[in-house]
Amino acid sequence: MKDAVREACALLRAGEIVAMPTETVYGLGADAFNPDAVAKVFAAKERPSFDPLIVHIASRGDLKQVAVVPAELAETVDKLTSAFWPGPLTLILPKHPDVPDLVTSGLATVAVRQSAHPVFRAINKELGRPIAAPSANRFGRISPTAASAVMKELGGRIPLVVDAGACSEGVESTIISIEPREGKKPVFRLHRAGPVTKEQLQAFGKVEKVKEAAGGLPHAPGQLPSHYAPVTPLVLLEKPSDFRPIEGRSYALLSYRGEDDGPYVNLHDWEVVEALSPGSGKLAEAAIRLFHVMRVLDESGVDEIIAEPVSETGLGVAIMDRLRRAAAKS
Ligand code: TXA
Ligand code: MG
Repeated sequence: MKDAVREACALLRAGEIVAMPTETVYGLGADAFNPDAVAKVFAAKERPSFDPLIVHIASRGDLKQVAVVPAELAETVDKLTSAFWPGPLTLILPKHPDVPDLVTSGLATVAVRQSAHPVFRAINKELGRPIAAPSANRFGRISPTAASAVMKELGGRIPLVVDAGACSEGVESTIISIEPREGKKPVFRLHRAGPVTKEQLQAFGKVEKVKEAAGGLPHAPGQLPSHYAPVTPLVLLEKPSDFRPIEGRSYALLSYRGEDDGPYVNLHDWEVVEALSPGSGKLAEAAIRLFHVMRVLDESGVDEIIAEPVSETGLGVAIMDRLRRAAAKS
């Protein structure tokens, strides 16, 4: 792995882009202070330039290189970063002037986190500069949680994928912005649900969802209603009795537990059944497997994927968010 870290850093220093693992999903990284390199990330992903990137720093001390933390937020930022960094929590903060406008799509804020993945951390540290990295998929598609998935998404467009096996979280980081309140705990605006749950954040402040703007426009620029989309239509079936199969059409089931006697498994003679957490029904396992299972079903050749909901608590909020966005295209 040492050689891979060295090779990745050499490419990043030369203004190239490299796919590498984080604990959430694989990212497509570039030197955050090099706008030409960042432009290559947008090009490889076919990502519209209005959708800003997350900047990853090697240590909490590096935060001041990319963000200007206002005095009234300092204590809260300190508490959050000591509790959750390195880890899957992204903070939206006022941007440092050195961060190129391309990274933040011209916004006055920057999204920043410290990855907990040992390989990502090693690259970040050896490079000695912040790394701008969105998920390593083509725009709007399923995020990759293994190097093989990155190759399917971006093979031929990028010089290197650092392979460190499967990601340990499986869904993208939780994104929040912070609003201070006089004499009270701050308000956290939840821009994207993720592995750091609402319940965990509530110890430090009040969590409120960001309202979806009128006309389906995204609140976080990249949080479009349709995202994480397989090519095969995906329908989230809120209850089994909603299922109306069409004669001659083939269906796959994206099940939670995949148990033979489950109400969804029993509903139909499915072409394929894939379970998120086979047998045991654990949300953490479901999150890790979610994008992998979506890919497997997308490639299975069925006409339609039917997804079973999971309970919307803890990590289930992030899983349901991804399923709804995957279904929004159909
Ligand atoms: O777990 C993750 O966050 C992964 C790994 C690679 O770190 N990254 C990731 O990046 O999911 P991406 O680009 O796929 O999603 C970043 C999201 C987008 O929805 C973008 O709009 C939002 O963060 N974002 C970035 N900067 C923002 C800002 N200043 N204000 C609001 N939203 C922002
Ligand atoms: Mg993404």
